Amino acid sequence: MKYRAIKGVQDILPPDVYLWQEVESTARQVFAPFGYREIRTPVMEFTEVFTRGIGETTDIVEKEMYTFNDRAGRSMTLRPEGTAPVVRAYVENHLYSLPSPQKYYYIGPMFRYERPQKGRFRQFHQIGVETFGEEDPRMDAEVLDMLRCFFERVGVDNLRFEVNSIGCDECRPIYRRALIDFLTGQIDSLCSDCKRRYEVNPLRVLDCKVKGCGEIKKKAPGITDYLCSGCREHFDALRGYLELLKIPFRVNPEMVRGLDYYTRTTFEVTSEFLGARSAVAAGGRYDKLIEEFGGPAVPGIGFAIGVERLAALIKDRHGIREPVPTVYFAAIGDEAEKAAYKLASEMRTKGIRVELDYSGASLKSRFRKADRLKATYVFIFGEDELSRGTVRYKRLSDGEQGEINKDDVMQFFG
Ligand code: HAM
Repeated sequence: MKYRAIKGVQDILPPDVYLWQEVESTARQVFAPFGYREIRTPVMEFTEVFTRGIGETTDIVEKEMYTFNDRAGRSMTLRPEGTAPVVRAYVENHLYSLPSPQKYYYIGPMFRYERPQKGRFRQFHQIGVETFGEEDPRMDAEVLDMLRCFFERVGVDNLRFEVNSIGCDECRPIYRRALIDFLTGQIDSLCSDCKRRYEVNPLRVLDCKVKGCGEIKKKAPGITDYLCSGCREHFDALRGYLELLKIPFRVNPEMVRGLDYYTRTTFEVTSEFLGARSAVAAGGRYDKLIEEFGGPAVPGIGFAIGVERLAALIKDRHGIREPVPTVYFAAIGDEAEKAAYKLASEMRTKGIRVELDYSGASLKSRFRKADRLKATYVFIFGEDELSRGTVRYKRLSDGEQGEINKDDVMQFFG
């Protein structure tokens, strides 16, 4: 074989693509009543959008970005995630001058140079939302409620909602100091990356995927013990609203997330099926990011769902329902074939799915093919039917047969 797709990058073929379409249209239907509107940003941004947005010392920026110079020597990056680009668009287009909160969603490919494995790809897709201009914890609960509603509508259950608060500029430095003090005693057991990280960005040590560092994480001080009163109240209120909405959740004080822009609320939705560290959706609050991008002091919160992981969950649970042809047209003889050709065009124009067969094969083999295609009806159209101005049909599910007037075909399908 001459050409192959790039490692970690995959074709989405039918029938899987139907599942993707369903998931995307469900997302649109679920987000609309919550007031979210679609935004489409480019797949490519100036590299600083991500280095500034996600953080210089995160795994994504340090080793996972597809970064290259364009012909004019400017550094460009294929988006590894959607939040930073949407914030860039929000600030650039002065969307903050519109009434708050502004709510946006996006659906599209993201790129990360990660080691491909089950549920992890180099090109993957996210359905994400970003909400600007509301810091009330009721908004955090609302966003999680929308996520719950989405999973309910796509028919995925047995999910774990994990929430945490990682504090703000006021309390995080105190926690950071405590964490550094703790890590100083563990420095020899840290992996080489974490030895470097521990002073620059110690929270990233808690997100390290190396096993030894994971053991250390278990003994590390928890951020929730260091929250300032404002963050604590916000987190308590969020939990109260989640209970009010009956969203089952668990507080996971170890969850810090792999992106630097988060403040206060963070969350992940995980499933046993995806394995220990795999989230199907994740997100959180980023109350400083808009200012960081040169915008006003506007808080933000959002999440992104991993479509590949979600599709795997749905496929495992429900399989895929691929649309099948309604009519398989078996015309016999030149004149009948011509008339069938014309009738099929009229039926398709009205939205009826018709498969035409140009093979001239025997009726028996055409029936076999109609069966394989799972057609609902076979239409038989020969010299006799042609002269009578009718079409004979057979319903494959129960063998019911009949003859209808050619002009009544549309009514036949209601
Ligand atoms: P994230 O946790 O990096 O957050 O990604 C969100 C979701 O995207 C993950 O939970 C996972 O389902 C999926 N995902 C991430 N990387 C891969 C991969 N290599 N292969 C397959 N799926 C993957 C963000 O991206 C944030 N922008 C979310 C957010 C929005 N926070 C606030 N607003």
